Amino acid sequence: MTVQGEADVEGILRAGRVVARVRDAMLDAIEPGMTTAELDRLGAELLDGFGALSAPRVMYNFPGATCISVNEEAAHGVPGPRVIEAGDLVNVDVSAEVAGYYADTGASMVVPPGSEASKRLCRATRQALKRALAQVRSGAPINGIGRAVEKTAKSHGFKVIRNLGGHGIGRSLHEEPDGIVSYFDRRDRRRLKRGQVLAIEPFLSTLSTVVDEMDDGWTLVGDPASRSAQYEHTIIVTDGAPIIATLSETAA
Ligand code: CO
Ligand code: CO
Repeated sequence: MTVQGEADVEGILRAGRVVARVRDAMLDAIEPGMTTAELDRLGAELLDGFGALSAPRVMYNFPGATCISVNEEAAHGVPGPRVIEAGDLVNVDVSAEVAGYYADTGASMVVPPGSEASKRLCRATRQALKRALAQVRSGAPINGIGRAVEKTAKSHGFKVIRNLGGHGIGRSLHEEPDGIVSYFDRRDRRRLKRGQVLAIEPFLSTLSTVVDEMDDGWTLVGDPASRSAQYEHTIIVTDGAPIIATLSETAA
C-alpha cells in the first residue's frame, strides 16, 4: 500500500511493533531440545495477546502462526515435531494483521555453540539488509536493493537465493510491488514511491541459489547441505531514510 496520512503510518507502525516484539521474544526463547511447534505456540500466544492475527494463517491457511525454518530449510518452515539442536541455524518469520494493517519481519540466529560459518552467514545477511535499506528512498530504482544485497553476499563469499524476495505490504500480506529480488535485475525499471510500504528480505546462503517446495506444500529448501539466513523489515519509503516499522525495542 501507499500510506495516505498519519492514520496509515500509525497503523503500519503499530503492526510493525507487534511482529517485532513477537520475533524477538521467539528468538530469545529458543533453546536446544525445544520443538518448532513449541516455539510457534509461544508466537501464537503473543500474537493473540496483542490482538493480532497470524497473516500466513488468515491469508494462506498456513499450518502454524509463524514460519520457523531450520538449517536446510530457507523459508516457510512449518512448525512441528522437529527438535531444535545446538548449532542449528534457525529463522523465525512473523507476519500479522493488526487492526487492518499488515507487517512482516524475520530474523535468523545460530543456537550456541554454532559454527563460525553460520554466524558469518547471519552477520553478512544482516549487513545485506542494512545496505539494501540504505538504497531505499523515493525515486530510487527498486533494483538498487537487489544490487546492494548481491554485492554484500559476494563480498562475504555467499550466494543469494534468487527465487525469494521482498514485496509490497500494508492492507494485505503480499501486494505490489512484488519481486523485490536479492540480485541485480537490470531489466527492472521500477522506482520507489514515497509512502510505499515494503517488506525487504534478503536471503543469503552458503550453497543454494534456488529453493524448492517440499512435499508438505510449504517448506522451501535448497541443497541439503546449504544453510541460509534471512532478515526482514517492514518499512515506509520517504524522501530520506525509510521509516523502519519492525526495529527491535532493545537494539536498533
Ligand atoms: Co516474512
Ligand atoms: Co515477507
